[in-house]
Amino acid sequence: MLVFEKAGEIRQHRWKNKSETWGLVPTMGFLHEGHLSLVRRAQQENDRVAVSIFVNPIQFNRKNDFDSYPGNLAEDLKMLQAEGADLVWTPRVEDIYSTNFQTYVSVEQITAVLEGAARPGHFRGVTTIVAILFNVFQPNHAYFGQKDAQQEAVIRRMVKDLHFNLEIVSCPIIREKDGLAMSSRNINLSKKARQEAPVLYRVLQLAKNMIADGETSAKLLRQAMIKEIGKSKIAKIDYISIADPATLDELETVENEALISLAVYWGDVRLIDNIRFHKEI
Ligand code: PAF
Repeated sequence: MLVFEKAGEIRQHRWKNKSETWGLVPTMGFLHEGHLSLVRRAQQENDRVAVSIFVNPIQFNRKNDFDSYPGNLAEDLKMLQAEGADLVWTPRVEDIYSTNFQTYVSVEQITAVLEGAARPGHFRGVTTIVAILFNVFQPNHAYFGQKDAQQEAVIRRMVKDLHFNLEIVSCPIIREKDGLAMSSRNINLSKKARQEAPVLYRVLQLAKNMIADGETSAKLLRQAMIKEIGKSKIAKIDYISIADPATLDELETVENEALISLAVYWGDVRLIDNIRFHKEI
């Protein structure tokens, strides 16, 4: 497994054998089973697999979130080696953002709601780094987890709008045994918050089941979710959304499809999760 920091090294290696297809798994490190599931999927669909590890400073809107973002490069590399990844790109901040950096990629409209509204500047940071990774690496496929549902939609929009020549592949959320969605941030939860956080998946399932049983009012679904989360004394809801999966517009009435998503603070740790409802027709 090769490990490079510089874009030039990446480009050179990427095009060594022009007939090989490459899958890229962009990450911010502190890898878990969720990331490894992306690597495995990429291995099934490409000749070679690369993983980028870069904690992208410009996508954090809270300094504290950036400062406390966990990392363990040595362990990440061990896991990727065991998984059989071909290449790991571990740029330093100065390898990506030169001193006078001033070019950003900004997707409009669909970044104005949910995570975009709650975390100003976040998606501009995400699309800028992902555009840089795609531009340097030029993968055939790039892999993202569905936990960041809005991120996936934003990146798909950017790829279409900027005519990037690659396919975005989205992969299912990987959960702990108790239902908590895997996230690098889970390590920062207090013991009590870690015990209580599986309520997030439970309320998502509750809402999905209510819809399946005939409830159509987004207001009532939201109320039921708030009531359940409210049983925790330490959870602080940032948002609960019941939206059209394509446009992310909030729904008043759920008909055939909905993306139910939420963001909840546990002390200083902010977790997101989501579930999709599709009516079987
Ligand atoms: O989902 C993430 O880990 C990050 O937002 C990404 C896509 C690697 C960009 O920094």
